[in-house]
Amino acid sequence: MNDTNTASPQLILALSKGRIFEDTLPLLSAAGIEVLENPETSRKLILATNDPAVRVLIVRASDVPTYVQHGAADFGVAGKDVLLEHGGEGLYQPVDLRIACCRMSVAVNAGFDYENAVRQGARLRVATKFVHTAREHFAKKGVHVDLIKLYGSMELAPLVGLSDAIVDVVSTGGTLRANNLVEVEKIMEISSRLVVNQAALKLKRERLQPIIEAFERASKLQG
Ligand code: ADP
Ligand code: PRP
Ligand code: MG
Repeated sequence: MNDTNTASPQLILALSKGRIFEDTLPLLSAAGIEVLENPETSRKLILATNDPAVRVLIVRASDVPTYVQHGAADFGVAGKDVLLEHGGEGLYQPVDLRIACCRMSVAVNAGFDYENAVRQGARLRVATKFVHTAREHFAKKGVHVDLIKLYGSMELAPLVGLSDAIVDVVSTGGTLRANNLVEVEKIMEISSRLVVNQAALKLKRERLQPIIEAFERASKLQG
């Protein structure tokens, strides 16, 4: 799939199903690209577009940076949360797309006195998918933590005593409320970024640059 033919290079875009795919569609439209299949109904993992030179890979959200880093995809869309965990090596990040906006927060059971536990220097068990971000956050605060790596449904961990706190993304707060958890600290604002393979940017610049610019213009309009 790595056709570096300069006359008509193939462009491969890595996206995850769900909110990133949905929110990227208008940006693709702004660049004149329409995806011809719906990943919610198709089982295909390589989707055609109206441009025979452009195809879309459907991958897990946390795998987008890996596909782009290794050049299996030329570009992709990934949350800042995911990029911080990945490290961003080999990735050029030209545009904050301002989509899939949320925040990374610490949350605890409604009855748990987090501030007091921190003040007392308690050792906290923290369940999260975002171990790198969580480690850095608590290290900066000088709070000792035992990190428990989970892959989803973080909100469950404090409910069943697996952890004292979670670090997860919050948007409306509805999931926290539904599980009787409270947000006690905001760590950072999160949005999704365009990520581009550094070699592809050089080899396919002529084809990629107009798309990057169209994404940038469209994301500013909706921001
Ligand atoms: P996953 O299967 O990894 O949970 P998602 O599609 O839920 O994938 O999340 C993709 C990205 O969207 C995340 O990396 C994050 O940046 C952002 N995100 C996650 N949850 C929300 C939310 N509830 N509201 C807005 N953006 C979100
Ligand atoms: C995300 C996140 C939270 C929830 C926060 O889950 O992991 O659970 O959204 O959003 P809210 O504050 O608006 O409730 P998501 O919907 O992506 O489900 P999944 O990752 O577990 O599939
Ligand atoms: Mg999710």
